[in-house]
Amino acid sequence: MDSDKAVVIFQPSGRRGEVPKGINLIEASRLLGVDIEALCGEKKVCGKCIVRVEEGHFEKYGITSSMSHVSEWLEEEEKFINPERREKGFRLGCVAKVQGDVLIFVPEESRAGKQVVSKAARDIHIDHDPAVKLYYVQLDAPTFEEPTADFERICRGLERDYGLRNLTIDIVALRTLPVALREGDWKVTVSVWNDREIIRIRPGKAEHAYGLAIDVGTTTVAAYFCDLTTMEVVDTVSMMNPQCKYGEDVMARITFHMTTPDGLKRMSDDIIEGLNDLIKQALANTYPPKKKVKKKKGEDGPDEFVEAPVEGKTYLRLTNEDIEDITIGLNTAMHHILLGLNP
Ligand code: FES
Repeated sequence: MDSDKAVVIFQPSGRRGEVPKGINLIEASRLLGVDIEALCGEKKVCGKCIVRVEEGHFEKYGITSSMSHVSEWLEEEEKFINPERREKGFRLGCVAKVQGDVLIFVPEESRAGKQVVSKAARDIHIDHDPAVKLYYVQLDAPTFEEPTADFERICRGLERDYGLRNLTIDIVALRTLPVALREGDWKVTVSVWNDREIIRIRPGKAEHAYGLAIDVGTTTVAAYFCDLTTMEVVDTVSMMNPQCKYGEDVMARITFHMTTPDGLKRMSDDIIEGLNDLIKQALANTYPPKKKVKKKKGEDGPDEFVEAPVEGKTYLRLTNEDIEDITIGLNTAMHHILLGLNP
């Protein structure tokens, strides 16, 4: 073997290969297609890249691995690895450089691409006062004697029954108003935002409205899909923040914006696309899973899928329109980047 190279084997993935001596274990893992968390971008400050250097001769792999086959321990590692673990061969992957053959074990918590987020929503007491509320109204149909226009008619009904005044209406809702009123035979459910703006009209009596509370973190994004009428968290979906590819922390993102002409737009577009994907995922979860239909012998053509509902489970079958409100929480940098403001 070339003496400038060493064999590195990663466990549990079993990936192995020769890498140039002198590169660190994170770099080696990239060369060999192993994903290890390196949140701080190898700056030795996050402690996410902990791996274990195995000691001994491994007949099965034909190598002798030793803690002495990686570069010396550095002070920075002390913050993340206590003496007991150090003794066992634990190191920061971004510190330990390959100097000879090594077998490396990547613990579960250091594996990138593991379960992305486990930010389950906690139950805390909050008063039920959603921005979007539902109001059911029954109106009289217009006549030649009383030909008031639809919008004025619905406003009158909402003022009479609920005391709502000076309402405006969203243009998208306005487009659906005439049909909804007639389809519902003048009985409709109106979604009103902050008791100020009509945002949706549904024929008949609707019982539920849904919304999303989204936490855009620098690393992970979690969306809590909530029933606004019962305050129940129906589902939680999450993903890595797609901006991670530009750098793992806030400073790296800001630097990317400062050094790349269209950097801000790219990051903004990415998070918007990511949020749309999360919404799609949350909605898809309200339908039964699908399974492929088995083809008959000799039959070709495209695969067909049918719904395979889980027994006893009810599915809400919601669409984009059913999400009536979204609240997004984020730090200042994430906020600016999302909105395309100079961070
Ligand atoms: S990558 Fe952050 S400490 Fe190693």
